[in-house]
Amino acid sequence: MSDIKYLFEPESICIIGASDKKNKIGYKIMENIKSGGYQGKVYPINPNLEEILGYKVYKNISDINEIDEIDIAVIAVPEPLVLNALKTCPSKKIKYVLVITSGFSEIGKNKEEKDLVDFAHQHNIRILGPNIFGHFVNKSNLNASFASGNIPKGNVALISQSGALGSALIGETGEENIGLSAIVPLGNKCDVDESDLIEYLKNDDSTKVILIYMEGVKNGEKLIPLLKETTMKKPVIIIKSGRSKKGAQAAASHTGSLSGSDEIFQSIMNQTGVHRPENVVQALQWAKFLANTPMPRGENTLIITNGGGVGVMAADACEKYGVHMYDNYNSLSEAFSQYVPEFGSVKNPIDVTGQVGIEGYEKCIEAAVNHPDIHAILCLGCEHALFQEEALKTTIEKIHNLYGHIKPIQYVFYGGKSIKNAARYLKAKGIPMYFDVYDAVSSLGELFKTYRYKQIRHQFESDDTKGIVINYAAISDILRGVENDKRQFLLANESRGLMEAAGISMPKSFVAKTVDEAIHYFNKINATVVMKIVSKDIVHKSDAGGVRLNIENEQELMNAWEVIMLNARKYNPQAVIRGIEICEQINLDTETIVGGRRDSSYGPMLMFGSGGIYVEILKDVAFRSNTFSKAEIHNMLKETKLYPLLLGVRGMGPKDIDAVVDVILRVALILKHFDQISDIEINPLVVYDKNCGARAVDARILIK
Ligand code: COA
Repeated sequence: MSDIKYLFEPESICIIGASDKKNKIGYKIMENIKSGGYQGKVYPINPNLEEILGYKVYKNISDINEIDEIDIAVIAVPEPLVLNALKTCPSKKIKYVLVITSGFSEIGKNKEEKDLVDFAHQHNIRILGPNIFGHFVNKSNLNASFASGNIPKGNVALISQSGALGSALIGETGEENIGLSAIVPLGNKCDVDESDLIEYLKNDDSTKVILIYMEGVKNGEKLIPLLKETTMKKPVIIIKSGRSKKGAQAAASHTGSLSGSDEIFQSIMNQTGVHRPENVVQALQWAKFLANTPMPRGENTLIITNGGGVGVMAADACEKYGVHMYDNYNSLSEAFSQYVPEFGSVKNPIDVTGQVGIEGYEKCIEAAVNHPDIHAILCLGCEHALFQEEALKTTIEKIHNLYGHIKPIQYVFYGGKSIKNAARYLKAKGIPMYFDVYDAVSSLGELFKTYRYKQIRHQFESDDTKGIVINYAAISDILRGVENDKRQFLLANESRGLMEAAGISMPKSFVAKTVDEAIHYFNKINATVVMKIVSKDIVHKSDAGGVRLNIENEQELMNAWEVIMLNARKYNPQAVIRGIEICEQINLDTETIVGGRRDSSYGPMLMFGSGGIYVEILKDVAFRSNTFSKAEIHNMLKETKLYPLLLGVRGMGPKDIDAVVDVILRVALILKHFDQISDIEINPLVVYDKNCGARAVDARILIK
């Protein structure tokens, strides 16, 4: 397949459907290519024209005699003509085709779209689109799009699945003074997808941040490792919509139905270190800040303010967005007392009071920049007589030029017209200036997230499964039996056998046909047992009086046998009774759920959460793409509301978290080794006190 480099750095481009009519898309693309200053070869194709904007026009690609290979073809002819236009591309060994045309799978014309892909792949061509506005690559001076207006140039790359939003974002980025290194829409994503583009952008020096608008993930197995790799090099921000409820409805297990929700996507974002904003405005603020701010060397933030109120607001925002405020008060007093009036404060926030003008800030910022234990600075100001528009502009600009590349420094100024004027002026200069403290701290929080992620990422790649013994041969035998039977689910005894072979402890259980057999099994189990009627004609065993708990001796067992049989016959005289299950009784404790499933979008996934009969109501679950790292599994556990309970609360000791992690690692290994398993669900997994283990009460296993 053609190298993705050809899409971003083409040496030649042809435009099939180029036009000289100013109201046509084929003209606008030509105009943008010309005004963008593209230096490569440009070949407009149109059967009826001689020249467009000074470029010679060819009737057909094959008429271009001066060149044997062209890197990109842009197709902008109506849908019925697209396939034929594509068929002309192999004559010049085209590598990438941008199909601008709408009217394919987005309106149900799936076959027409598939025909394009099939033809393209037979000829080593990749397709971007269809249904796109074209693309822009700053470093190639290439604007092969019909986007209107000037595209601001800079270091943020924009990938958008929605053409309209992508086009609107160009305008928004312009308003926010965010420069773009590339804009690539995905349209119907029939071939080239976000992974292909990230593959290029992760190593592109002109791109500092990758901003993606995404509606759905098709190939998570490719995307997840790529995101992990990319976020170690540069921030990735993903705005995601389109929460798949359909997938959830079709799912056959709790793990399946819960994983249709947005939590699975969020968990993957956490696992891969991706920033996920709540809205477009936040996305743009983060993108701008992350693209232009130096990485901090630690986590201590200092707030400098001239008003107590905004200082407190900033402290609240820091708590909300996980920003740590520097709290060595001796060191703060030593460094800042000289700049702060006696009635001010040298605790964090440093309150310079209304007594101090903007030049007083300068000294404090300088001291903070020189302080080895302060890593980021948040500078807040409320308008007063000593805050003059011109002084603000010149002083902050000077401070930014002196120190903005050394440590992250943000500014938030509240006030009237003159303050806003100064703020707008500084913002336009690329200075991290905000109109509200929460916006500033939210961006700062994301910067620290990147910092933290980079510090600890390596822990999540370790393989902690060494020493775990699983009887794979026994599991293969069980699965073969199920396949021979042409079943897609494992029977209770098969699931139990599989769990045992995987080293996951389940209660012992046997089905007795006679009371003597029952006594034999009771002695074999050698513990308190539960007795349950076994009949496919009695589904609700308890309703039928077919369950007895707390059986502790032979006499109790014989009595229970009589009662259960009597109840069952009364409940359904026609029922065929296979016997009574004698099952080791499990002491109740903290109920959790552990799941493993092969997700159609994301590949093999693990799940952990609050278990028992209320799982779907509680919806307290977290996910991970399959992992063998204990640290990563711990992170998944931490994302649930149950986690503090596992740590121990209100006089209750900690639970055996290690045992939970061990069970999850075993599930991870089973998923890895047995492709045919689509779902494993242990619910509940009862977790006992620390060092007392965890036991699976019920396990449900499905195969493809
Ligand atoms: N090779 C080269 N040029 C050809 C051609 C061929 N095989 N067949 C036709 N053309 C020429 C036409 O003669 C015309 O040139 P002209 O203006 O000189 O007459 C030009 O290609 C365009 O064809 P036309 O029939 O005029 O189409 P159009 O410009 O009205 O519409 C699209 C074409 C692609 C723009 C339209 O079908 C479409 O899909 N629009 C929506 C695009 C969109 O919104 N994309 C998603 C954005 S998010």
